[in-house]
Amino acid sequence: MKFELAAPILVLASALPLASAWGSLGHETVAYIATNFVSTATKTYFQTILGDTSTDYLASVATWADTYRYTTAGTYSAPFHFIDALDSPPSSCGVEYDRDCGSSGCVVSAINNYTARVQKTSLSSAERIIAAKMIVHFVGDIHQPLHDENLDVGGNDIDVTYAGTSTNLHHIWDTNMPEQLVGGYALSDAKTWATNLTTGIKTGTYESIASSWLTGIDLSDPVTSAMTWASDANAYVCTTVIPSGVSAVESVDLSGAYYNKAIPVIELQIAKAGYRLAAWLNLIATGSTGL
Ligand SMILES: *[C@@H]1O[C@H](CO)[C@@H](O)[C@H](O)[C@H]1NC(C)=O
Ligand SMILES: *[C@@H]1O[C@H](CO)[C@@H](O)[C@H](O)[C@H]1NC(C)=O
Ligand SMILES: [Zn+2]
Repeated sequence: MKFELAAPILVLASALPLASAWGSLGHETVAYIATNFVSTATKTYFQTILGDTSTDYLASVATWADTYRYTTAGTYSAPFHFIDALDSPPSSCGVEYDRDCGSSGCVVSAINNYTARVQKTSLSSAERIIAAKMIVHFVGDIHQPLHDENLDVGGNDIDVTYAGTSTNLHHIWDTNMPEQLVGGYALSDAKTWATNLTTGIKTGTYESIASSWLTGIDLSDPVTSAMTWASDANAYVCTTVIPSGVSAVESVDLSGAYYNKAIPVIELQIAKAGYRLAAWLNLIATGSTGL
């Protein structure tokens, strides 16, 4: 699946950030949530690798991979942003590593690769910086249900309307619906949303379930760990993204009733991604999830 710019430049320039995959708001929110949960040792480990001692050390690199994929040097990384599950939504969802992770790689193999590389002190610091940036980004991507789906290029080819604007189903999950909830896409909006979801994890809606999000997490088996996250997200394709099939969303304006059903899942997936990213970074830096 590749992201396609469906809207003309004029529309993009006025309204939308030029980034795919959760959009910048989603990725930066995931990074800020992780920042709120990593241990002091983990913070130092990644601030050192990234050469940034600010509080934005994760958020400010969270969308780098979406820029890199469109450069000549980074073309090879385009398949790393998703896994094309060859399932049959809405009647049957499911991801299988051997069937769905293509020969050019996928988000699961990428998390595996960059988790190994960030720990490899024999690599150049430039390579370890890339590895750290990739991990922060891909743990976000894998939580977007349409990044774990082959159908219609992960929904990029499903035309929909959103608040009167023509777009596609993939794009509204990445960008339009999160931005409608939060009311913007600046770094400060991401920080505010992350604070809200962090409270939800610590003392709110997610408090009783957050520990279950770490079931199956194992640094010695990144493929199995990431497949747990991919399967979890992919299941929402059947239940929430297209529960009544493609025809029920095609050319429909999804900013009303559809948004109301989707938004709790988006909030949940962003919260999970941030919490799991913190646990993963803690495992890399300290050997324990710390959560
Ligand atoms: C691992 O990452 C390196 C550096 O980005 C890349 O050249 C290589 O193709 C990747 N390997 C796999 C199997 O993804
Ligand atoms: C957090 O988000 C929930 C739902 O998304 C909302 O009801 C609540 O008002 C928000 N809280 C804060 C402090 O922003
Ligand atoms: Zn991406």
